[in-house]
Amino acid sequence: MDAVLATTHVPVTSRFEGWRAHVFEEIESTNTCAGPLPAWSVVRADTQTGGRGRTPDRRWVSGEGGLWLSAVLPCPGSRTKWELLPLAAGWAIVGALRGFGVPDLRLRWPNDIMIGRRKLAGLLVERYRNDTAVVGVGLNVFNHPELDHPELAGQTARLADLVPGAYTVDDTARLVLRALRRMHVHLLGAGFRVVADELNHAWGEPRRVEVTLTGRAHTIEGLFQGIDQHGRLRIVTGREGPQTYDATQVALLRELE
Ligand code: BTN
Repeated sequence: MDAVLATTHVPVTSRFEGWRAHVFEEIESTNTCAGPLPAWSVVRADTQTGGRGRTPDRRWVSGEGGLWLSAVLPCPGSRTKWELLPLAAGWAIVGALRGFGVPDLRLRWPNDIMIGRRKLAGLLVERYRNDTAVVGVGLNVFNHPELDHPELAGQTARLADLVPGAYTVDDTARLVLRALRRMHVHLLGAGFRVVADELNHAWGEPRRVEVTLTGRAHTIEGLFQGIDQHGRLRIVTGREGPQTYDATQVALLRELE
């Protein structure tokens, strides 16, 4: 995945460990570009001009030095079967980054990769076709998101501050792609139920959270109880008891403790 030769409009295309990789200097969004591509394609860019976050109102700040990558995975069978993919993908990347030496990592539902209260990486998983899913990964490596966006100060983390050493953004791409491929094999082999149980062991202590539902002004406060078999958020609120929400219903989840 040689980014040095890439140009703005014409990607450098190469084979990479079983993936077909398209590398751009600059692109609007790697997810949008990857959408129609066949399984085992990957799109990477040095910068994105319109990087997208999980909710439509959220832009993803994608300056030089970060990993902005979208991997296309095959999703055979029914669409609902693959509901767990976004969570499994986040968890796979957490595992790979731990192996890389990043301390104190955790997953915040649905798939934010956190160091304490700071966000290191975010995922945007989209289905453009029935037989594939695009797993978009934004990982802060050497970039400084808060320099151009001071409102992000204190909210983001970057790999370079956590793991010293001579690695490149390409090395992190390799790490992420290997983790995604392993996760895909595991999902198909172990089954979605097993992976949901594994995820529920991984959340750590139950936390109090505040949830803003999509399109609603008021918030709900409750205790985070992990996920159900479809990957939906389970919280217990004082007033309404146990509730479940899928990722499209939740605009923002804020941890209160
Ligand atoms: C979030 O936390 O809201 C999700 C952020 C996902 C950002 C990545 S960067 C690569 C890919 N292309 C995009 O436009 N978004 C994702």
